Amino acid sequence: MRMYDLIYKKKYGGKLSKEEIDFIVQGYTKGEIPDYQMSAFLMAVCLKGMDMEETTNLTISMRDSGETLDLSKIHGIKVDKHSTGGVGDKTSMCLSAMVAACGVPVAKMSGRGLGHTGGTIDKLESIKGFSTSISGEQFFENVNNIKMAIMGQTADLAPADKKIYALRDVTATVDCIPLIASSIMSKKLASGADAIVLDVKMGSGAFMKTLDDAVALADAMVKIGTMAGKHTSAVITNMDQPLGLAVGNSLEVIEAIDLLKGKGPKDLLEDCISLGTLMLVGGGVTDNLDEAEKMLLKTIEDGSGLKKFAEFVEAQGGSPEFIYDTDKFEKARYIDPIPAPKSGYVSRIQTDEIGMCSLILGGGRETKESVIDLSVGLILNKKLGDEVKEGEPLAYIHSNDKAKTAQAIERFLNAYTISESFEGKVKTTFARVTSDGTVYF
Ligand code: URA
Repeated sequence: MRMYDLIYKKKYGGKLSKEEIDFIVQGYTKGEIPDYQMSAFLMAVCLKGMDMEETTNLTISMRDSGETLDLSKIHGIKVDKHSTGGVGDKTSMCLSAMVAACGVPVAKMSGRGLGHTGGTIDKLESIKGFSTSISGEQFFENVNNIKMAIMGQTADLAPADKKIYALRDVTATVDCIPLIASSIMSKKLASGADAIVLDVKMGSGAFMKTLDDAVALADAMVKIGTMAGKHTSAVITNMDQPLGLAVGNSLEVIEAIDLLKGKGPKDLLEDCISLGTLMLVGGGVTDNLDEAEKMLLKTIEDGSGLKKFAEFVEAQGGSPEFIYDTDKFEKARYIDPIPAPKSGYVSRIQTDEIGMCSLILGGGRETKESVIDLSVGLILNKKLGDEVKEGEPLAYIHSNDKAKTAQAIERFLNAYTISESFEGKVKTTFARVTSDGTVYF
């Protein structure tokens, strides 16, 4: 087999066999296929696509490029949740605690920030002492004892994805359905959970910009998970504005804690409920979505979700006092309002640019080696559809550097459109995709 012939075949829309896909994935992972040939191949996939059989074979080949975790030491049906990446998305933290408090073991693998999107691991590290670098044994023990653990992805898990993702990042080949589906699902299948719930983000802060594309991505991932014997479902959620009000590492952890205290923003709660109900169904505690919703809401009312989060933090070396008293989080030195330049209604938010504001302030990595500032970010005061008067704060910038504040304000104002009116309806969730089909909300 020759890589040249396979690139040529895909360039003209040909269908690749399992053997051909294995040749490409394993060859690239081992360093036998150079970056320039792989780049040409990835671009051909972006332009010509892959059918479901090819996408599934690509996923399985990437999964098998490294180790797979055996979670059989954890009792019960283990559930994992994964987001395709968004801004202000702190769902994993509060949602995992709510689901664990309902008795479903949450064995979660998370990542660090990527581009304009934040990562759960970075966020959790703003809790003093907290570590996600725990051993497999510790991970199993924590899930068995307290029903919840979050660890970072190890280097041995789906190494093909690690290499291919880095190449896609610099060759404009990220926003491609078969490549995203195989990237996410290869990691999820390698990390061993029995049930997988996917949060597929759609909008100006997401890789998928339209509902049709988001549903196609969700459908592909659900089919792959189901074929691999995992209970897999997905929700399409709105990323035409940041989720909640907080964007930035510690600010987002505080908002997730506030949600568990019953003081969270409405859209964050809605996301937690739509994803959490599927996690409870996947975890086998109920097959009724209304009952699942009641169980989740009860964890907020009776404080069991907050208690679970504090137990989880303590089990991974963090200080539980941070959960009960969020004043303990390190605060940024300066908090500056961003005044609205005119009166009207917020009619559009370029959400990826809001993520970039947090990155500019130091909340994300400019290079792989960057050390991030966990205390910086933004608290939004106005979101889509809100009326605003000239001079009223659109948001507050939390920063440790006034020059960076100025840069972030300029970028923020370019990302917000204020119009004379706003007719649209702002939805939080758009559809649920399961192996039974798609339900639009
Ligand atoms: N997240 C991933 O892990 N992979 C992608 O391709 C996109 C988002």
